[in-house]
Amino acid sequence: MAEIIPSILVQKKEELLDKLMAVESFVERVHLDIADGIFVPNVTIGGFNEMETIETDLKIGVHLMVSKPENHINHWLGTAVDRFIFHIEATSRGREVIDAAKENDRMIGVALNPQTPVSEIESLVDQVDFVNFMTVEPGFYGSKFEESVITKIADFHFYYPDKPILVDGGVTPTTIPKLVEAGATMLVSGSYIFKSKDIEKAIRELEKVAN
Ligand code: DX5
Ligand code: ZN
Repeated sequence: MAEIIPSILVQKKEELLDKLMAVESFVERVHLDIADGIFVPNVTIGGFNEMETIETDLKIGVHLMVSKPENHINHWLGTAVDRFIFHIEATSRGREVIDAAKENDRMIGVALNPQTPVSEIESLVDQVDFVNFMTVEPGFYGSKFEESVITKIADFHFYYPDKPILVDGGVTPTTIPKLVEAGATMLVSGSYIFKSKDIEKAIRELEKVAN
């Protein structure tokens, strides 16, 4: 059993509204990608200002693809976002980010880029609600799926069988079976859903393969 979570990566508030509307009737939760042009070579909306004026029943998790997330998280705590993901490669102050989220009753996940070994997050695994494995280099829709991460996920799952695993990048009907088999419990999908002509059909197709 794995949940399908549409991924929203946009440059404008109008695009954010369009994408929220496009999936609102079909899922409970979305993943909002935030990129700062420093940690990744792409820039999205800043997000927290836009979020303050948006009304939606969707639950929103924010993927902070930003350098020094400890300087960003506080801006977000005034929004309805219920969970956050930060990158271990982006900070030496992961503990601060985790504490800020927890003190404000938000869920928190730590993300690893494809090349980052699990040893980098070992001291934090018990503190986070889930671990986010990137199966693409972060920053864009439609990047190349990194097959080699599947073994990393399976190894992690062997040592931490109860820790929820989110996979982000290149999630399609082709990659899902291997990811679920490796232990993924949440699957974030961007281009497969938003490039399809029939969004509901694409989501149902991914769900069917995932379950
Ligand atoms: C990638 C983002 C992902 C992205 C996924 O850097 O963090 O969430 O939107 O897009 P696809 O599914 O197209 O790889
Ligand atoms: Zn993401």
